Amino acid sequence: IPCEIFGNSKEGSRYVAREIADLIKQKQAQGQKCVLGLATGSTPITMYAELVRLHKEEGLSFSNVVTFNLDEYYPLQKDAFQSYWSFMHRHLFNHVDIDAANIHIPNGSLPKSEVKNHCLQYEQMIADAGGIDLQVLGIGNNGHIGFNEPGASIFSKTRLINLENSTRIANARDFQNIARVPRLALTMGISTIMNAKRVILMAWGLKAPIVAKSVEGHVTDQVPASILQQHNSCTFVLDELSAAELT
Ligand code: F6R
Repeated sequence: IPCEIFGNSKEGSRYVAREIADLIKQKQAQGQKCVLGLATGSTPITMYAELVRLHKEEGLSFSNVVTFNLDEYYPLQKDAFQSYWSFMHRHLFNHVDIDAANIHIPNGSLPKSEVKNHCLQYEQMIADAGGIDLQVLGIGNNGHIGFNEPGASIFSKTRLINLENSTRIANARDFQNIARVPRLALTMGISTIMNAKRVILMAWGLKAPIVAKSVEGHVTDQVPASILQQHNSCTFVLDELSAAELT
């Protein structure tokens, strides 16, 4: 997997925002929509801030942008502070000129009986949009991408999954205590991610061991991000800390 290594996360974030902005503009020039797959968590926050800056200061328009988020906790109301729906509006959507009808985030508030159909519809909406042009990813310390935890099938599509306890602990910061972190989540599958035309995975800070395993280790479903070795246009964007164990 090609890696771009920067001195710090701010420089790496600006690099990723620049590639996304260039794609949006290229599609605009062709009169086409730009379909982005988006991630949440601490990793992409600075990159979203840079996209907002490009909108406010450099006139980047999101009018042709269609988005599909990777995942959402289940069950969780979308207006909860901790929801990924809230996260995306707080960090990006409230600050740019995207059409609300073009925003797609798995719905964590449906009754269980409707979840399966919702997941099928989510996949169908991605297909109807022409597939994902560029998918943004972070990585969990266990190698998860989206919420595809170790063992997730390479054929998996959007579905309801069980979160690992290590993931719940890592994400407990937004909840008052670990018991309040949902045990389930909706996530795009490994195959949904692999079908994106371009994939950019960002990792900052203390993720060197899992980054090295993903880039240089065996391709195994025990390290979901290692499957990206088989994607024909995937780049890891790293800072010096997260790249420290690459040979
Ligand atoms: C979030 C997601 C997760 C995170 C990962 C890293 O939408 O899909 O895979 O990217 O858990 O989280 P942070 O960035 O908080 O370290």
